[in-house]
Parts: sequence; C-alpha cells; structure tokens
Amino acid sequence: MRSLIDILSLSTQEIDELIAVAEDIIAHPEVYRDKCRYKKLATLFFEPSTRTRLSFEAAMYELGGQVLGFSEANSSSAAKGESVADTARTVSCYADIIAMRHPKEGAPLVASMAASVPIINAGDGGHNHPTQTLTDLLTIKREKGRLDNLTVGFCGDLKFGRTVHSLIEALSRYTGIKLVLISPDELKVPGYIRKDVIEAHGMDYKETTNLEAVMPELDILYMTRVQRERFFNEEDYLRLKDSYILTPAKLTDAKEDLAILHPLPRVNEIHTSVDSDPRACYFRQVLNGKFIRMALILKLLEVE
Ligand code: NCD
Repeated sequence: MRSLIDILSLSTQEIDELIAVAEDIIAHPEVYRDKCRYKKLATLFFEPSTRTRLSFEAAMYELGGQVLGFSEANSSSAAKGESVADTARTVSCYADIIAMRHPKEGAPLVASMAASVPIINAGDGGHNHPTQTLTDLLTIKREKGRLDNLTVGFCGDLKFGRTVHSLIEALSRYTGIKLVLISPDELKVPGYIRKDVIEAHGMDYKETTNLEAVMPELDILYMTRVQRERFFNEEDYLRLKDSYILTPAKLTDAKEDLAILHPLPRVNEIHTSVDSDPRACYFRQVLNGKFIRMALILKLLEVE
C-alpha cells in the first residue's frame, strides 16, 4: 500500500510512466472506463478547492468508480475536535483510496501513517501539492514535447505557493533546467527549497523582481496567485497582491513558443485578455489535471 505525500517519493521513471499512462488515457479513454469498477475514492477537503477536488472526483467517475467525502472541515467531525489520524483511520473503513487537502503542513503524512488505504496529498498548507505538479509536468510535456532543457520562470508568491515548491522539486530531476525566480523580496522561495532542493541539486537559478527583463529568456512562465490565506496580516497582502499582472503588452518580447501556466485560481495576476493568446495554457492545464489523476489512481490502486 502506497501513498503520495511528496512528489520526490516517485522515481523519475514512475513520473514518466504516469505521464505516459495519462497520454494513453487521452488517446483511448474507452479502455479505462471500467478499470475502477466497485472502487471508492474519498475526498477529504479541509480547505477550499474547485479544480483539485472536482478533478479527482471526475477522474474516479471516468474510471467507473465511485466517490464520497466532504468539501469543508466544518461539515466533518474535525469541527468536534477529531484528529486527522482518527479521521483517516475511519475513512479507510469506507474507501479504497483517499485524497486529502489540509491547511496544516504534514497533515496528509500523519493521515497516511494511520490509514489502511493510500493517501494522496491534495495540498498541505504552504508546503506541497504533488498532484498539481504531475498536472504541470503533463502540461509541459504536451506543450513543449520535453521535460528537459527548459528555462522555467516562476512568478508571484514563491514563498507560500505550494505548487511552486513541488514543481521545483520535480524539475530538480531533469537536466538542462534553468530556474528564473521572479517575486517581490518578501515572497522569495523559502530557505529550505533554495538550500535543500535548488542548491543541493546544483540547479542553475537566478532571483529577480523584474518580470519584463527576463521575459525573452523563458520557455515556461508559471504564474501564481498571492496566497492571501497564508499571510499574517492583511496590509502585507494588500501591498503585495498586485505585484505582477501579466498583460498582452508584457508578452511583446516573449518567445513565440512560450507556454504560460497557472495552477489557478487566478485573481488579478493574468489579465483576461491574455486568455486568447495561444501561449496561454492554463485551461488546457486544468483538463490535464483530470487525466493525470486517473493515471495516479490506477497506479496507487495497483490496477493493471
Ligand atoms: C493551487 C493550490 O491549491 O495550491 N490551486 C490548485 O490546486 N490548482 C494554487 C492556489 O491556490 O493558488
């Protein structure tokens, strides 16, 4: 029985296999229609979500399985003071696999130690979000045809953005990756990501506050939302929230084959007039999230 808590618990070969299975699902969806018949997925969401929860649920339905769960902490016994471990142990009696999102870093790990079925980390606080990373990697693979030799710009809230942390971890596995980290000084990547991931793997990187200055170098631009819910005070959020707003004018010097990604939800950081640019991949990225989660469910349930 295996869980997915951290993206680096998957080998590079396993990540590549998940991407290959997702691509096969896209090409031959009918083959997968009954693969999870009589299996149940529980979605335990202690934090808001649209894409992650619904894509997990859609993924399980498209595999012929069924779904149960809750979408807010207040509707579960967490509101009565039940521990994450007891909740996980309980839900293991009802479901074959669990996707959990929680505001506390490490909660899905704690759940995985108590559960008797696989736990998938669907986002834990400002820490990790491995299934968004699988979505991002599938998107990069489909848009660019490769996962190596890419200059990847991360822009926005690199401090609290869990999707950024997990994607940088994953990219440390591939060769020829250059990271361009674009953020206000207050929202740079945390020290543990810089030291234990970027520097420990000898990744090529630079930090800047100026998006336009680096735009011509980028193959991928990964925009992110300023994570309001992780700020200690509202004034800091209000001061930083509009640090970067991508507009068509700012893309003037960008590469013709740039791929613009965003895990969504977007607030202000990409103007809607960018959406019709063929380089805007974020809604295609949403669809990829369903396919890669189908591949992941098959893998963790050990379905042939
Ligand atoms: C992200 C998250 O929850 O971390 N959303 C998602 O899962 N697609 C990004 C965000 O909330 O900004």
